[in-house]
Amino acid sequence: MKEVAFEALKNPELYGHRPQMDKKFVEDAIGFVLKKIDENLGTFVQKFPAPASKNQVYEAIENVDWTASFWTGMVWLAYELTGDDKYKDLAKIHVQSFKKRMDEKIAVDHHDLGFLYSLSCVADYKLTGDEAAAETALNAAKQLTTRYVDKAGIIQAWGSMADPEQRGRMIIDCCMNLPLLYWASEMTGDNSYYEMAYNHVKQAEKYIVREDASTFHTYYMDTETGAPRFGKTAQGFSDESCWSRGQAWGIYGFPLSYIYTGDTELLDMTKKLANYFLNRLPEDQVSYWDLIFTSGNEERDSSAAAIAACGLLETAKHLPLTDPYRTIYENAALMMIKSLAESYTTAERPDSNGVLLHAVYSKPGKAGVDECCIWGDYFYFEALVRVLKDWKLYW
Ligand code: GLY
Repeated sequence: MKEVAFEALKNPELYGHRPQMDKKFVEDAIGFVLKKIDENLGTFVQKFPAPASKNQVYEAIENVDWTASFWTGMVWLAYELTGDDKYKDLAKIHVQSFKKRMDEKIAVDHHDLGFLYSLSCVADYKLTGDEAAAETALNAAKQLTTRYVDKAGIIQAWGSMADPEQRGRMIIDCCMNLPLLYWASEMTGDNSYYEMAYNHVKQAEKYIVREDASTFHTYYMDTETGAPRFGKTAQGFSDESCWSRGQAWGIYGFPLSYIYTGDTELLDMTKKLANYFLNRLPEDQVSYWDLIFTSGNEERDSSAAAIAACGLLETAKHLPLTDPYRTIYENAALMMIKSLAESYTTAERPDSNGVLLHAVYSKPGKAGVDECCIWGDYFYFEALVRVLKDWKLYW
């Protein structure tokens, strides 16, 4: 078994104190997100924001991409915070759209069903008890199991299961799709969902995480023998570098699997990923798009900071009071959230329909570079809600 390093923090003093961020600061930041949601309420009803903005404006597209649920998730969070039925009514329209997508199998041959159905239908079930929404989410979980490769113990991310380019390829992002499977096991009593999710996360822990606690974006497994093959990037700088958002997906994804499995190795691994991430942040605590960059003019990825902040706050909840990293991760998360609120929102860009500026979808793919990304908006809002209240997860 490969030993994964636990880097000591290069600047522990930095995270030794809480940033100045009182309740009013958080309420004001949330007020801004609610204002942006309200401005978009009439635009994104039957259609959804594109994954990334163009010139800071999201186009409205059909419910076909992996990102549609982030807008729905924001609307559910707005409903949960305010109790205002205008949000619930819109989210319910979305839930019907997600039902149609699943019933008609529209763009569901990929692993992102967890993102799509946790934040739409599972959230609906958890908040309103809607059994029909739960049934749709269970159908999505069933669909997700068709991506499972038994021999390799992983969920294949992309493409046809027969495509040699994609066969046996798992990606770090998938850790966020696993809660749908754990939830389906709890709902149905069928343990096979749990086993697939748990097998996958353990394979990700074993192969996607490198010895220095950085992560590959994607990793190929041999589907005939189950043997590991090689890591490769898709959205990072290089196969050897560490894509910031991938590391952030791990920092949030591993503790989510811990919640359902109780496997403390997953929490230990999260700490290793977290320290690697924190040690490569620039002064304002918002990472460059790849952690190979720690200074200079490369673009930031504000969405990675928002995701990491949620992951650090979730991780901190599960660490014992005797673990100094509990407070360190809380402080680090609060610093990231504060930095995003002060310097990364569209407050000075009223022409934008997004919330967070300066995200990167795919630099190698030349897509959404230095734009708003809808998941960045969602995780920023989730992070703020986590700071304001004892938030019960949709994941
Ligand atoms: N899960 C795809 C991405 O983070 O871009």
